[in-house]
Amino acid sequence: MTDFAYKPTLTGDLVILRPVDESDYEALAAAMDDPDVTRLTGSHGEIGEEQARTWYRTRKDQTDRLDLAIVDKASGAVVGEAVLNDWDPDNQCCNFRILIGPSGQGRGLGTEATRLTVGYGIEKLGLHRISLGVYAFNPRAQRAYEKAGFVVEGVFRDALLWDGEWVDEIMMSVLASEWIPSEV
Ligand SMILES: CC(C)(COP(=O)(O)OP(=O)(O)OC[C@H]1O[C@@H](n2cnc3c(N)ncnc32)[C@H](O)[C@@H]1OP(=O)(O)O)[C@@H](O)C(=O)NCCC(=O)NCCS
Repeated sequence: MTDFAYKPTLTGDLVILRPVDESDYEALAAAMDDPDVTRLTGSHGEIGEEQARTWYRTRKDQTDRLDLAIVDKASGAVVGEAVLNDWDPDNQCCNFRILIGPSGQGRGLGTEATRLTVGYGIEKLGLHRISLGVYAFNPRAQRAYEKAGFVVEGVFRDALLWDGEWVDEIMMSVLASEWIPSEV
């Protein structure tokens, strides 16, 4: 078993996931600035460039989370990020979140990045449970998560207020006991 201090590179058929760094700022800021990405991630408010650069520069030093840049193997470009955060060591669980900008969407990259990250969390970090929230207006993300092995476990009603409308948040999780490792 390894721990969150170690930052791996995970390679799939479509994506390479590697530790995020300050050099990823432009690509990730562009992905996050997309209005659909902003809405689908329920992101209220912006953070400034300096703060964001500092954030990415310091991710490799964190010992309680894993922040991976998603590289599209077809182009070599960074198209998004996949993150394990909110680690609870006593209960061997954490949260997962992902975002991919428009150039990387709809080609299977998100499903593969989710499987690689969650597989690492369960198989290498020894986590028992990984959970996430997905807003009800995002069936594409829910589908990608289901393909990657997550199951719906409930709903946080009216968890997001977006453009004056209340939106439910669907809670999903995957347990180590039900995780099926990919064939190597
Ligand atoms: C959500 C996200 C990670 C998914 O990654 P992706 O690479 O675009 O998705 P994939 O191509 O791997 O899979 C998408 C699946 O959803 C399906 N899908 C697309 N639109 C759909 C819709 N409106 N309803 C249901 N399913 C839909 C696709 O057909 C595909 O399933 P299939 O392979 O069975 O056909 C990515 O689109 C993204 O980051 N979007 C913007 C930000 C975001 O939504 N983040 C998640 C917040 S919880």
